[in-house]
Amino acid sequence: MAATETPSNSNAPLSNLEEWEDFLKVRYPEETAASSKPFQATDPNKAKEQFRNYEADARPSVCEFYRLNHRHQTYDFVQAKKKEFLSLSRHKMGIWEAMEFLNTLVDDSDPDTDLSQLDHLLQTAEQIRRDGHPRWFILTGLIHDLGKILCLYGEPQWAVVGDTFPVGCGYSDKIVFHQFFADNPDSREPKYQTRTGIYSEGCGLENVHLSWGHDEYLYHVVKDYLPPEALYMIRYHSFYPAHREGEYQHLMNGRDKRMFAWVRAFNPYDLYTKSHERPNVEQLRPFYSELISEYFPTKLRW
Ligand SMILES: [Fe+2]
Ligand SMILES: [Fe+2]
Repeated sequence: MAATETPSNSNAPLSNLEEWEDFLKVRYPEETAASSKPFQATDPNKAKEQFRNYEADARPSVCEFYRLNHRHQTYDFVQAKKKEFLSLSRHKMGIWEAMEFLNTLVDDSDPDTDLSQLDHLLQTAEQIRRDGHPRWFILTGLIHDLGKILCLYGEPQWAVVGDTFPVGCGYSDKIVFHQFFADNPDSREPKYQTRTGIYSEGCGLENVHLSWGHDEYLYHVVKDYLPPEALYMIRYHSFYPAHREGEYQHLMNGRDKRMFAWVRAFNPYDLYTKSHERPNVEQLRPFYSELISEYFPTKLRW
């Protein structure tokens, strides 16, 4: 994802990762989050119609990004990536160090007008702090996207960001650009295409493989250090089909369903706190360094 790459690069159709998030904001505007009732019954025909509009109005780069994501995120691909990355043997880094590392990610975006990855993390954390939430919640906001360092290992955008979804079972038709799954080899594997697929009713998300990306990677890096509510926020914050559409409840157990209240509580901070006002990193650093050291060792395995 070097600055020289253009949307014609088939691995990097997005000029920056925020293009995906900007599309999410169009699909899920702030008003719909304010009620915090994502499972509210909606007119299915109307919802479908709206979906088609989001898709038709999406930038070609976003459309291409989803085409690649839905085509290549197979069950076998997810297993291979877990094997490749979850031994956590690439780096030993502290949290702040990882934030600075992530900030070296160069997109095609304009550095004078676009926010850096570090800005997004600090803005998310600062809004959570202003709203008076507990310290672990603020810390979760600060670190939630650190898994995007996968891009710096040369991973393609479609294997780092994008709405996540279970692999190994049927695809919900609420997943945006659902039609692109026709090109996924798993769609021709009958064992992967039933409602529960290789899983069982109520088996719990712990036993379900989601499409590979920054959520799952970071979860494994931090899983020994944060409370379970924080870990749900990190692991499932891109699982829009579940936390915004109410899908895949049949794979959840009681704990998942309770914990998803936290995933939904986190989502507005992720999506709607971007402001053009750059946070003052040097001023904020002492507060966050102390918060980091409250929960994390000086070095973690990545
Ligand atoms: Fe994220
Ligand atoms: Fe984020």
